Formats: sequence, C-alpha cells, structure tokens
Amino acid sequence: MNDDIAEIAAGAQRVAVLTGAGISAESNVPTFREVQTGLWERFSAQDLATPEAFEANPALVWTWYRWRQSLIQQVEPNPGHTALAQWQQQLRQEGGELSITTQNVDDLHERAGAEVLGHLHGSIFAHRCLDCGDPVELPDPAYDGFEAPPEPEEPPQCATCGGHIRPGVVWFGEMLPMEAFDAATAAIRSADVVVVAGTSGIVQPAASLPLLALERGTPLIEINPEETEISEAMDFCLRGPSGVMLPALVPPRRRK
Ligand code: APR
Ligand code: ZN
Repeated sequence: MNDDIAEIAAGAQRVAVLTGAGISAESNVPTFREVQTGLWERFSAQDLATPEAFEANPALVWTWYRWRQSLIQQVEPNPGHTALAQWQQQLRQEGGELSITTQNVDDLHERAGAEVLGHLHGSIFAHRCLDCGDPVELPDPAYDGFEAPPEPEEPPQCATCGGHIRPGVVWFGEMLPMEAFDAATAAIRSADVVVVAGTSGIVQPAASLPLLALERGTPLIEINPEETEISEAMDFCLRGPSGVMLPALVPPRRRK
C-alpha cells in the first residue's frame, strides 16, 4: 500500500464506501454481466432485469431471481466484506464513521457484520407485490444455486390482492430508492475519503455518486482489477481484487 494512501486511510474519521458486484465476485457470486448457463444461456442478466421482461414472462424472471437468491444463500462473505465491517467497527469505536452504500442486492456486507447505509438497487430478499406493494415473506428457494433451474415456475400470488409477487430489486428503467441515494450523497459529501470497490461505473445514477467527492477535493480511491468508466476521476487506483486490497487498506487500530 503506498504511503499516501495508507496515510489518508489512517487519518480518515469519516469514510464513505460504494461497492458493486465485484466485491462479491470472490464469494463466487458471478458479477452481473457474466453469461448464464443451461436454459438461461440465451438470456443476459440485463434482459431479465426489466419491468417489461417480468410483464412478458413473470415465471422466467421470477425463477431467475429465486435461483440467484439461492446462490447468494449458499456463498459466504469474503475478506473484502470482512475488512469493511472491521474498519466500520474500528472507526465507530473511535468516534468516526464508515458508511457502506452498495449496488449489490445480496446480503454479504450484512453477513460479514457490517451495517449498510443503503442498497441502491434493492435487495433480492425483499419480495413484494407488484400491484399493492405489500412486502412478502417467503420460504427460502429450493434451488441449488450452482445448478440452473430446469424450468421456470410462476411467481406466487399476493395474499392481499392476488397480484404477482415480484423481486425486491430495482430493474433497469426503475427509480432508485431515493432515501438510499440521498443518504449516500450526504455521506460522500461529508467524507474524508471515498472508496469505490468492485463497480464498473457503468450504471447511472449510482456510478456518478462517488464523483460528488470532486466537489470538495475529497480523495477518491478505486479498488478494481480493471480500469473502469470512472477510473480517470480517481486519485488512486488499486488494481487488484477487493478481497486483497481492502484488508490492506484498513488502518491498524489506534492506540488508546
Ligand atoms: N474485486 C474488485 N472488483 C472486481 C473483482 C474483484 N475480485 N472482480 C471483478 N471486479 C470488477 C470488474 O472489473 C467490474 O469492473 O467488478 C466490476 C463489476 O462490474 P458490473 O458487473 O458492471 O457490476 P456493477 O458495477 O455492480 O453493476 C452495477 O448494474 O447490472 C446492474 O443492477 C446491476 O447493481 C448492478 C449494476
Ligand atoms: Zn398485492
């Protein structure tokens, strides 16, 4: 870790973190743009992540998300998630704060022990009724996350109004949860350092959030093995996997 970055991390009292699918890659959750297998081969994730796709074929879209949920439930947080949880705990004990805003719909940050400020693209566990919006608790999916379901199953019906239950994720073309977006905006605007880990910086408006740091000259650190759409705005680019880079970025605990 270069000295400047280590010094910034060690001196930061308020850290704002934005994560994307890449932080879950080392937990074996395929990033959003990986090709599916089997029956699903002819669909890209993007094809299935729209209200129109659900309207046209609710069973296909519902089954894909339940399959993805079963995959997420079968994997574990990785050292990248754990490092952020540790850094958050450390800072809180010292009167500081580390906020995590994620584009991921998984719960790996939470399962690593971190508190998440917001899920900009919703949660794969937050099923709700398409018509009346009622949240719905469902038993865990019976799929093996690593085997493509043989065929689609119809989404359950809402007990309140009989409508289709839909995944609680934000589809392309849908509004982001403004509360999560506003909280992330405030956190980035008051941060001493902004860390962006595991996102291609393609999908707006989430991708432009870190750029708010430029307003105040707040240092921006990107963690990604590859160059991204927002790399040129970064002060530092740590070209490597977040499971290695994040643990190295967490400063040692301050002596009491
Ligand atoms: N550590 C860090 N970054 C990684 C790792 C890793 N081990 N492995 C892959 N990456 C990077 C890739 O280089 C890529 O830049 O993670 C990024 C993943 O990019 P995307 O798949 O585009 O995921 P994300 O940026 O989160 O997509 C944003 O778009 O697809 C929709 O709603 C979906 O939330 C998603 C959003
Ligand atoms: Zn309903």
